[in-house]
Parts: sequence; structure tokens; C-alpha cells
Amino acid sequence: MPSDRTSGDRTPIVSGNWKMNNNHFEAIQCVQKLAYLLQKDDFDAVEVTIHPPFTDLRSMQTLIDADQLRLKLGAQNCHPDDKGAFTGEISPVFLAKLGVQYVIVGHSERRESFGENDEFVARKVAAVQKHGMTPILCVGETLAERESGLTLDKVKVQVRSALEKRTSEQVKSMVIAYEPIWAIGTGRNASPEDAQEVIAAIREEVASVVSRPAAQAIRLQYGGSVKAGTIADIMRQPDIDGVLVGGASLDPTEFARIVQYRRHAF
Ligand code: 13P
Repeated sequence: MPSDRTSGDRTPIVSGNWKMNNNHFEAIQCVQKLAYLLQKDDFDAVEVTIHPPFTDLRSMQTLIDADQLRLKLGAQNCHPDDKGAFTGEISPVFLAKLGVQYVIVGHSERRESFGENDEFVARKVAAVQKHGMTPILCVGETLAERESGLTLDKVKVQVRSALEKRTSEQVKSMVIAYEPIWAIGTGRNASPEDAQEVIAAIREEVASVVSRPAAQAIRLQYGGSVKAGTIADIMRQPDIDGVLVGGASLDPTEFARIVQYRRHAF
């Protein structure tokens, strides 16, 4: 049964994952332009997070603080341990120190290209929360899995393994992004109805693994080729509380229009 976003406390959340794009100079330009385009009303209605590469975070923190921007700073990944002999890795402690509030965990590009499994992703979820930040847990199926009818089985296992050791209170504040792998960077969207069906199943899985109140409170995003022209129909779906945007978040004008979906939607 779909839940009703309007009756809950699920503030819509639009997140921009820049992936490995924008050096720290380009990041400053991008965020300054975005801040100019977004108004108070936008931030009152929608939580906006940006996830630049690690090397940009310090510059972004300074800009957000100095200009008192209401953008929330996010990271794209972290290591589950606080410190140690992990050459090239970034501790969640360092991210928290930089004012990072959201951390993407288990993105399909990390699962597919860097071999991250469900157990490792679950450790990251715990680490991010341990340091007072919010995980955006990514789940999603490959095209082959979708065509074999395995979509729901795949995402349920991913959700279960990441959440089963979390308390109801911890899960309430989390975000899960459903990103079908075949829709990432391809220009192919899951239809809003298909996305709603999977996301509603994710909410049911949270209810069964954790609790019904956690399922009501957790925010669920869709990600995969979201554009200004497609966001409104996606956000009309009752269980979809936001979007995780890749390519379109690199263009501040396009990303601002995505954040402002209400203005051209209703
Ligand atoms: P695109 O919006 O470029 O398809 O990327 C989606 C994504 O992976 C966001 O994390």
C-alpha cells in the first residue's frame, strides 16, 4: 500500500552527486551560481544536498559557512573505520570535521567497479551514523536482473543487509536511493510508476526488517537520468521523497530547475 508523503514528516530531498567531476575552482563557481538561482522558498520546501569530490569539500565548507548558504554538504563515499592503514581512503571522522552532513554509501559505481559488497556497505552505514551524519544508501538492479524479474529480490537483500543491525530510530533519519543501474548516465529513466512500485516495496521491506514507524519516516529517493523535464512526474509518486541526480547536477541552471520542480509541476 503506498504511503502518503503529505501526512508524514518527509521533507523532499534533492541531492546532486557530482561523481568525479568539478575541481575545487569549478565547484566554487557551480555552487555560487546555484546559490544565486535558488530562493528562500526553495530551501523552505526542499532539502538540497551536494556531493562534490573529496578534494572540493574544504572549499565548499568555507563557501557555505561564509555565505550562510542553506545547501547541505555531502560526500560520495567513506571508509567504515575511523583511522588506520587504509592508503587512499577517507575516514568518516574527517568528513564530519568538514561539516559534511550526508554521505552516499554503496553507490552502484562503487559496488560494480570497486567490489563493495553488502557487508562492507552495512559497515559504512553504521560508521556514517556513528559520526552524526546521514547515510544515503544506494540500491538497484542491473538490466539483466530486471529482465529476469529479479529487481525486487535484489533491492530487498541490499536493504535488509544494510539495515538489519540498525535501530528503528537510526533508520528513521536515513535516506535510501533507488537507482536502477541501467538508468544511470544512460538517458533511460525508470517510468515514474515503475520507480514507485520498487520504492514502495523498499518501504515495505524497511517495515518488515526494522519497524513500521521507521518505514513511514525514512526518505526514499529515485536516481537515474533525472532531468528538469522528468522530475515533476517522479515527485508526484506517493512514496518518492526526492531524487539523487548525477549528470544534471553539474549544470547549476538545470539542477536549480530540478530543485524548483514545484513551480512548474502543480
Ligand atoms: P545520472 O543522473 O547521471 O544518471 O546519475 C545518477 C546517479 O548515479 C546519481 O548517484
